[in-house]
Amino acid sequence: MYLETPRLILREFRDADFNALLEMDSRPETARYEPQKGADGVRAYLEGAARAALVEPRRHYRFAVTIRPGGTARGLVGLAMNFDMTRDWEIGWMVHPDEWGKGYASEAALRVLEFAFHDLNAHRVIAFCDAENRASERMMQKLGMRREAHMLQTRLLRGEWRDELLYAILESEWVAAQA
Ligand SMILES: CC(C)(COP(=O)(O)OP(=O)(O)OC[C@H]1O[C@@H](n2cnc3c(N)ncnc32)[C@H](O)[C@@H]1OP(=O)(O)O)[C@@H](O)C(=O)NCCC(=O)NCCS
Repeated sequence: MYLETPRLILREFRDADFNALLEMDSRPETARYEPQKGADGVRAYLEGAARAALVEPRRHYRFAVTIRPGGTARGLVGLAMNFDMTRDWEIGWMVHPDEWGKGYASEAALRVLEFAFHDLNAHRVIAFCDAENRASERMMQKLGMRREAHMLQTRLLRGEWRDELLYAILESEWVAAQA
């Protein structure tokens, strides 16, 4: 399973991505608003990605973001089904700090959103971010998502209660934006 964009190839994670993912996850910049996985967490993440690929119908995708012609994982986009009855999915992302500001994160996430609505028949896709994570919030806005909530103290990050934003886009909004 893979997805393409003009500059990127999004593919399934594999065990060989361990070092690239750990290096990205260990950078202080990526951990500013998110917990660090550490080596055990990265291993568990890759095991989860492999397990998810075996479930039919598929409910969870973990895409490695690679820059053409491909190879090393320089980011990730996750897409998981929250509720099957309402066809409600959740998207999330991370890009290696050395690649920030190049639009790769938005390009990858836009392709995954398209995949969710076009191929998975999603009714709604949501995303959460730390209320101070401006880059992630801006991405949500660029993707056409609407802010639905500012939730108070729903995250516990390194012992500190933090607020969180909920953004969403409906299939009808996606279709209207494409027209
Ligand atoms: C969120 C993340 C993927 C964005 O990566 P990126 O390389 O900046 O993404 P893009 O280049 O596609 O840019 C996204 C938009 O955010 C804007 N942006 C980036 N950093 C910003 C900041 N600190 N403040 C405000 N806007 C910012 C960019 O300018 C761009 O908007 P524009 O096209 O209108 O100029 C990256 O910051 C990241 O990996 N963060 C760590 C992991 C993380 O927090 N993930 C989110 C979990 S919810």
